[in-house]
Amino acid sequence: MSESDTPFRAPVGTHDVWGPAAALWEGLVSTFAESAYRYGFSLIVSPLFEDVGVFVSGIGEASDVFRNETYVFSDRGDRRYALRPEGTASVVRAFIQHHPTTPFKAWYVTPAFRYERPQKGRYRQHHQLGAEAIGTSDPAIDVEVIALAHSFFRAVGLTKFRLLLNSMGDENCRPAYVALLSEFLEGRETELCDEHQTKWRANPLRVLDCKKPSCIAVIKEAPRLIDHLCDDCEAHFARVRAGLDQLGLTVEIEPRLVRGFDYYTRTTFEFVSDALDAAQNAVGGGGRYDKLVERLGGSPTGGIGFGSGIERLLLAREAEGVDTPLLKRNLDVFVVDTTGADVATAIAAELREAGLAVDRSYDERSMKAQMKVADKSGARLAVLVGPDELASGEVTIRDLRRRDSATDQSRAKREAVVATVTELLVNVQKND
Ligand code: HAM
Repeated sequence: MSESDTPFRAPVGTHDVWGPAAALWEGLVSTFAESAYRYGFSLIVSPLFEDVGVFVSGIGEASDVFRNETYVFSDRGDRRYALRPEGTASVVRAFIQHHPTTPFKAWYVTPAFRYERPQKGRYRQHHQLGAEAIGTSDPAIDVEVIALAHSFFRAVGLTKFRLLLNSMGDENCRPAYVALLSEFLEGRETELCDEHQTKWRANPLRVLDCKKPSCIAVIKEAPRLIDHLCDDCEAHFARVRAGLDQLGLTVEIEPRLVRGFDYYTRTTFEFVSDALDAAQNAVGGGGRYDKLVERLGGSPTGGIGFGSGIERLLLAREAEGVDTPLLKRNLDVFVVDTTGADVATAIAAELREAGLAVDRSYDERSMKAQMKVADKSGARLAVLVGPDELASGEVTIRDLRRRDSATDQSRAKREAVVATVTELLVNVQKND
């Protein structure tokens, strides 16, 4: 049956992760876990669905992501739930529910569901690596969160990316800016893109990150929020910039960077890859959300975090031509058994017990068929047992990568299989 005849396929905008891509995926997750632990973050796992109110209050009922993209459903008990379109609101809900000591620093890996028009780099189920730090408004944590993202991108081999930074102000300075922006847009309405000519009043800030050339041209002349920050926001922004500078991180101030969720205050940032198409070039983004804990029913508490799309990271690595593996995922040994007595079960168990990665053949196939599988498996060594070895209480060990060398094959006592294989592996790996 060819793939196109299969009765069921993964839903539109989703994909299966398997084969070599899965190894890279695993490598990204473990590299992120390592980076996050180095910055003092520990893992949080929370449900993939939440009371719809978490996202209504969290990301904002009027946000594009909630209105047009969030999967909302009723369960059999008539409760209204939503599949998480992003990770932050759930982590904040968990923070309020469990009262951890602050700052609460948590990292996560999660699917995120958004009903978008699928295209390369944009999916209905994508996967995010993210980190949230809740319980302090110190600009030093903004710097740390951004530095964590930066060091992670470098650790996975990316170099062609830029860090864009902006401040969204807060409830003291943003309303006056929005009024100023509205006044400006009122006079330029007819020059905006078709969509924003009619919609800009609902949320004038959205026009700032419109990608249409007509809106971009108008926005170039618009007042900038960073020129209208209140003193506290200005001081916070200055300390974030100074901290990033101290770490040697180059930033580009991007006044148009407003991002898509209602919860952002003050610092916002995005990492864009120059190796990807402009429409889907964000490999990560985030910001501060000092009002979100209150919006979800907690007491006033500041927070900041970021999320990075695994699929985007893989595309960016490919586009940059980065092919370094992130994780060693090779078999050490493949056991070939033609005794008919299933000696492979015991040998594989002993080798695995010794910490080696081992696979074996099944279904009592011929020596030739089993060797074919062994060759394909990527294992470094094969341990062979046939009737001959069984009779003499031995095994044959074969180097699967150096077939022509005189030393490619040796015999070992059955009871010494673990010691011999371990020693041989050390030797062959030294010479690799
Ligand atoms: P976001 O910018 O919507 O932020 O998503 C974070 C990252 O997820 C993006 O930079 C991109 O790499 C990836 N991404 C987003 N949507 C898609 C999609 N449809 N297909 C593929 N990849 C996608 C957030 O979600 C915030 N929760 C980040 C944050 C954490 N802010 C504060 N804390």
